[in-house]
Amino acid sequence: MTSMTINGEALRFDLDPATPLLWALRDAANLTGAKYGCDSGECGACTVIVDQRAVTSCSIAIGSLEGAEVITIEGLSPSRSHPIQQAWATEQVSQCGFCEPGVILAIAALLKANPRPSDAEIEALPNICRCGIGPRMKRAVARASMAMTGGDSLNAIAREAAAQPPVAHEQRFSNGSSGESQIPAQQINRLER
Ligand code: FES
Ligand code: FES
Repeated sequence: MTSMTINGEALRFDLDPATPLLWALRDAANLTGAKYGCDSGECGACTVIVDQRAVTSCSIAIGSLEGAEVITIEGLSPSRSHPIQQAWATEQVSQCGFCEPGVILAIAALLKANPRPSDAEIEALPNICRCGIGPRMKRAVARASMAMTGGDSLNAIAREAAAQPPVAHEQRFSNGSSGESQIPAQQINRLER
């Protein structure tokens, strides 16, 4: 048995101590925000915060987490009001969303350690995104950083973000299209027939 606090709630897992935290979260605690990607600690999709540090939950056994404090995307902010979540929405970062819980938690841990992260620190985040959220993600980090530091960040990205309006809807998609210019569902059905 392993006891830990998850999103502020004390939980005890009656599982093999070798069970990866990812599966304890997803299968036993029904917290499915952490995603299964590479299963080898390389993609970051399963990132959660353990004792204030971002960790890949596929790579850590629950047996080593007795008494740990774990935060998943479900518990980062019950009202979704964490600065990076607010900035994420303002900059319209989301695409398919698969990597995003992990990326957001990695950024939240980074901002907790350093509310004014450098470009190099942001670029060093190990999380992989196949949809290309990188540029908007950087602007979101800058916005969150400004919100957390009272807007006096000297970070170059923060200055750039301050000068730019939120991303327009038609610029959201990495292929340059807009939601309206996608093929309508009825037309796809016709094509498939
Ligand atoms: S699934 Fe854990 S790092 Fe990829
Ligand atoms: S938003 Fe699709 S993988 Fe990152």
